Amino acid sequence: MMKKRILTGDRPTGRLHLGHYVGSLKSRVELQDEYEEFILIADVQALTTHFEHPELIHDSIYQVAIDNLSVGLDPEKTTIIQQSMIPSIAELTMFYSMLVTVSQLSHNPTIKTEARNYGYKDMTYGFLGYPVSQSADITFCNAHLVPVGEDQIPHIEMTRKIVRKFNDLYHTEIVEPEYKLSSVGRLCGIDGNAKMGKSLGNAIYLSDSPEEIVKKVKSGVTDTNRISVKIPGNPDVCTIYKYHQAFNAEECPNITSMCKNAQIGCVACKKLLAEKLNSILDPIREKRAYYESHIDEVKEIVSEGTKKANAIGNENIAKIKEKMHVVM
Ligand code: TRP
Ligand code: SF4
Repeated sequence: MMKKRILTGDRPTGRLHLGHYVGSLKSRVELQDEYEEFILIADVQALTTHFEHPELIHDSIYQVAIDNLSVGLDPEKTTIIQQSMIPSIAELTMFYSMLVTVSQLSHNPTIKTEARNYGYKDMTYGFLGYPVSQSADITFCNAHLVPVGEDQIPHIEMTRKIVRKFNDLYHTEIVEPEYKLSSVGRLCGIDGNAKMGKSLGNAIYLSDSPEEIVKKVKSGVTDTNRISVKIPGNPDVCTIYKYHQAFNAEECPNITSMCKNAQIGCVACKKLLAEKLNSILDPIREKRAYYESHIDEVKEIVSEGTKKANAIGNENIAKIKEKMHVVM
């Protein structure tokens, strides 16, 4: 029986952090046996917001590839792809764009939020249209399933809509993808901010050293009412506790009871967390060190993955164009 195909991706605008790890990287590793998995490094999509810094995007392509490989994605099983090198995605984006209206795109809640966060007063055509390009990312290889965070759902719904209309019009058989929502919610920043991000300075990176982890965890926000060890704490309002829930679930009942009964101080509790994070990150660091010293191997993995994806994409786009009468 053929395995179902998964496609998901990252924008290469910097290194990946613990939020990416709990939100998607971990499940990518778990899913790579059951599915045929494609990981897209979306460098064209990164240009929609970072077109003034193409060199940053280029450097990040290999950082993001290493982030994915170091958490345990196996290049023998999983295909890593560089989006800009897949012409069938660009062609499909153009064809899909005929079926999407400007008002559909400008009402997309994720586009609205991102435009607000980036402070865009006016939007470029490329940024406004990136969900169309993302639809092409997902469907150029007929992916069945897209593991995503909540913010990406509008894009998958738009993809499904486009695919239905496209298949209806041109009698193609493009697969209508489904999304798989990651079971864990979004991880907040270590400062308690709901969003973890580079620009907010509150992110813990997969590539952080053990010392950086200790330092960042120490700076984390706890129950602010707990001004002394003798005062019972409330884990429900504590950022450090949220991290324990995400990375140290087995110890949570114990920590809750000790915190509520003033049997542990925040300094000790943070130490436990830093140790746990470092024990999770140690094997990841080991793999990272290997790939960083074998960067040619990383380039080869991305290039081979891209080649494999092109074989699939070229065949599919040829069939699609024939059905659309886009032929000589
Ligand atoms: N928009 C996604 C993000 O910001 C990245 C992405 C690009 C993606 N193409 C994709 C995700 C295709 C899933 C499928 O994280
Ligand atoms: Fe948070 Fe731990 Fe301090 Fe309780 S003891 S407030 S859970 S850091």
